[in-house]
Amino acid sequence: MTDQQLLDSLFPAAADIPEKYRFEGQLEQREYLVNGTLRTWHGPLAQVRSPVYLATANGDEQVILGSTPLLDAETALGALDAAVHAYDRGQGEWPTMRVAERIQHVEAFLRRMREQREAVVKLLMWEIGKNLKDSEKEFDRTCDYIVDTINALKELDRRSSRFELEQDTLGQIRRVPMGVALCMGPYNYPLNETFTTLIPALIMGNTVVFKPAKLGVLLIRPLLEAFRDSFPAGVINVIYGSGRETVSALMASGKIDIFAFIGTNKAASDLKKLHPRPHRLRAALGLDAKNPAIVLPEVDLDNAVNECVTGSLSFNGQRCTALKILFVHEDVVEGFIEKFNRKVHSLVPGMPWENGVSLTPLPEAGKVDYLNALVADAQAKGAAVINPGGGQTRASFFYPAVLYPVNAGMRVYQEEQFGPVVPIVPYRDLETVIDYVLESDFGQQLSIFGTDPAQVGRLVDTFANQVGRININAQCQRGPDTYPFNGRKNSAEGTLSVHDALRVFSIRTLVATRFQDGNKALISDIIRHRESTFLTTDYIF
Ligand code: G3H
Repeated sequence: MTDQQLLDSLFPAAADIPEKYRFEGQLEQREYLVNGTLRTWHGPLAQVRSPVYLATANGDEQVILGSTPLLDAETALGALDAAVHAYDRGQGEWPTMRVAERIQHVEAFLRRMREQREAVVKLLMWEIGKNLKDSEKEFDRTCDYIVDTINALKELDRRSSRFELEQDTLGQIRRVPMGVALCMGPYNYPLNETFTTLIPALIMGNTVVFKPAKLGVLLIRPLLEAFRDSFPAGVINVIYGSGRETVSALMASGKIDIFAFIGTNKAASDLKKLHPRPHRLRAALGLDAKNPAIVLPEVDLDNAVNECVTGSLSFNGQRCTALKILFVHEDVVEGFIEKFNRKVHSLVPGMPWENGVSLTPLPEAGKVDYLNALVADAQAKGAAVINPGGGQTRASFFYPAVLYPVNAGMRVYQEEQFGPVVPIVPYRDLETVIDYVLESDFGQQLSIFGTDPAQVGRLVDTFANQVGRININAQCQRGPDTYPFNGRKNSAEGTLSVHDALRVFSIRTLVATRFQDGNKALISDIIRHRESTFLTTDYIF
């Protein structure tokens, strides 16, 4: 089949979709969750469009999945008030609850969440075009993350259950909540990335206002009842609508203590500036990235190609950790390109539920036009699309475009494309690549491909102070979730991992006293008679 024929048969007719994956009717969502109640919104709704089109007698028709509430600022502030009230200046039921009990609430939520796997996976495919395998992986990885978080908290709590004695001072140190958290996730991992802040925030005793990502919104709907039933009223509140209208008002209120956000550094800066008490606000941010791959002249080319193809094109390049620019040494660039193009050609375009499909339609409105503009800019400045069929489009679908030779004058050299455009920059002098990294505004991760220990070792040292993770002979990625995930410069604020996230959403409080008989007796009595939930030596199994 030629590339053109592949695109001709890309979108299915409604009847061709297997029954199990069909999306029939529209979901009109008016519910949002505030103070333990699913409320009904009677105001305007936002239409939810799928990246999937159907082939009809009238041409390609975009599937409309339904609609979600476009809450106004006042309603969003009502949700914030519920969270503030549930926190009750640190005196609420949730922030003062014993850790073991909070864990039980989260476990109850997880049981209910697992029941919704099929519904959420289906919506992941229809709302953001993620293929079936990756959608299932996103759901399962999120459940695993919750289990790991529970285990990490038990471990943390066990370590805090003992007293310490330093310089005649007896102390017990525990991590306690910060206050009210605002959690917002990205559209490319609308479940997983959101929950990697939401769950740690909750389990540490904070109360939360959660606003789903701009896309991948309906897929939170099947979880609303589980949220409602698993936590005390006001502990988790879920709002919808435009960020400008709702989130700006929340930040400007000055009542948010932790801002967990994944998106652009520009949006994060604008929102942070609205907060009137900057020192009261803690931020956990995952932001822009332009992760480079550096292919050295001594290299296992097959491995480099395989990793660079998945690194740059899995989920159509829509990952913050994707490889977004490939620097390939002139001595190997020809062989690299030939193998790279062959591998790209083997990737199967299609609908998310189809077997073996990895290239799917893009969910963002205007994305195909944006990618076309990036390619046209590079072409006007001397690059060519060098893979067969590269850059062909149909409605929301963009077939990967491999651009070569890319240079510093082109937009794609600096801009984060967040899509299936792969810029390849040939280099002779490694210093140009090193300068690129040192001068970059971003510092999330990078990948080094090479077999010469001297060269690889030197580059590791050069980049150790530039990015949060250096991958050797492997693509960039977030996992395993127990490893730190962060970034420097404009790429992130704070570090997330199962273990670190618990720290991000809490602060240590020390209770200390002089090591004297009267004090020792007092502390012993408090513990023996269970007079405190903080001062205890309870050990969670
Ligand atoms: O979009 C950014 C994600 O954190 C990337 O996660 O490397 O597991 O795809 P991943």
